[in-house]
Amino acid sequence: MRVFIPKYPYALKPSFSRNLPLKPLSKSIHSSAPKHGHIVRSKEFYMNSYNIAVIGGDGTGPEVARESVKVLKVAAEKFGFKLNFTDYDIGGEAYMRTGEELPDSVLEELKGFPAILLGAIGHPDVKPGILEKGILLRTRFELEQYINLRPVKLYDERFCPIKGKTTEDVDFVVVRENNEGLYTGSGGNVFKGTPHEVAIQESVNTRRGVERCLRFAFEFARKRNKENALTLCGKTNVLTFAWDLWDRAFHEIGKADYDDIKRDYMHVDAATMWFVKNPEWFDVIVTDNMFGDIITDLGAMVQGGMGIAAGGNINPEGTSMFEPIGGSAPKYTGLNVINPLAAICAGQMMLDFLGETEAAKRIEEVVMSVTREKVLDLGAGKMGFSTTELGDMVAAAVAE
Ligand code: IPM
Ligand code: MN
Repeated sequence: MRVFIPKYPYALKPSFSRNLPLKPLSKSIHSSAPKHGHIVRSKEFYMNSYNIAVIGGDGTGPEVARESVKVLKVAAEKFGFKLNFTDYDIGGEAYMRTGEELPDSVLEELKGFPAILLGAIGHPDVKPGILEKGILLRTRFELEQYINLRPVKLYDERFCPIKGKTTEDVDFVVVRENNEGLYTGSGGNVFKGTPHEVAIQESVNTRRGVERCLRFAFEFARKRNKENALTLCGKTNVLTFAWDLWDRAFHEIGKADYDDIKRDYMHVDAATMWFVKNPEWFDVIVTDNMFGDIITDLGAMVQGGMGIAAGGNINPEGTSMFEPIGGSAPKYTGLNVINPLAAICAGQMMLDFLGETEAAKRIEEVVMSVTREKVLDLGAGKMGFSTTELGDMVAAAVAE
C-alpha cells in the first residue's frame, strides 16, 4: 500500500498572502471587464486564504489535530479569511506500511505551504528515534525551522504546581534554537559493543545559526514589549567553546541593534531552579536546542502540563510547523479523553504567525476562559469533558 499523498489542486496553491494588504486588482482583470458595468466578485475573492498541511500523526495526535482544525474553521468563518486544509498520512502506521518515514516528495510538497499543523509523532511499535529523527527533526531541519517558540503561560492558578504563583507570575516565552547544537546528529562511535566503545555526540554551533536565533529572540522581546528583557540561558562555565560564541554574539548584537532590550545571562542549571522558585523573573529566554528541549518540558509543567503547552517550529521566511508539545500518548488513543487545548493553542499560534492576529487573540481568550471556568483538570480523562466536547465548547465560544 502506498501513502496517500494528496496533491493540492492548482487553484489552492499557497497564496502566502500572510497579513499583506489586499493587492489592487490587476490590469488584466480590469481590461476583461465589460465596458459598462463592473465585475461582481464574491466575498471569498477578497479574503486572505491560507493552505495548511495537517499531519495528525500517531496516537492521540489525529484526535487533537481534529479539534484544532474544528476551532480554526470557526475562527476563519468568524474573522473573514479562508483556510484550506490538506491532510497528510504520516507517522508510525504509515511508516510500518511503507517503510518510509517521510517520502522526499511529501517534504517537497510541504515546502509549498505557509504552515503545517502537527498532532504528534511517536508510535509504541516503532523503535524510539526513527520517527522522531525521520519525521519531526527532518522537517525542522530541512524546512529550516530554526526557531522553536514555546510560550509558558499559566491560564489559571489552579493548574500551577507551584504554590502561590499567579497567572501574572507565569508568563514567559522560550526561544529555542531548533536546527543546531546536539541535534544535528554529528558524531559517531568506534569499537561499538566492546569494552573500549567510544561514543561522541557533538554540539554544532555556527555563528550564522546562533546569530539568526538571537536576532529572532531580540525582535520577539521587543515586539512582545512586556519587560523588554532577554535572558540568555547557557553553560558558559563548562561548555566554553559553544557558549563563548553564544555569549559574544548575544552582547555584540544586543549592543549594536537592540540596546532597548535588557540583557541577562543565566546558567541552565540555575534557570531550572528559578523556573520553579521565581518564574516571574522571566520575559523572553533564548537558548540552544538541547537546553531548550529540557527547560520547556519544565516550563510546560509550570503552566499546567502537557494538556495546554504548545509550540511553533518557525522559519520566518518559509514553512512553519505548529504542534502541541505533549507526545502521542498511545494509552489514551481513541478514547476521546485527551486534552485538545494544547493543539488548539498550537492552531492559535499558527494564526498569529500567519498574521490573523484578531482571530488568534480570540482563540486565546476563549481557551483562557474555558480553562478558568469549565475545565476541572488539564490532564487526560480528568477534564470533566471529552476531547470532542471540549473542542466543541471552544469552537462555539469562538463563533459567538
Ligand atoms: C520536543 C520533543 C522532540 C525534541 C523529540 C520528540 C525529538 O521532545 O519537541 O521537544 O527533542 O525536540
Ligand atoms: Mn522535548
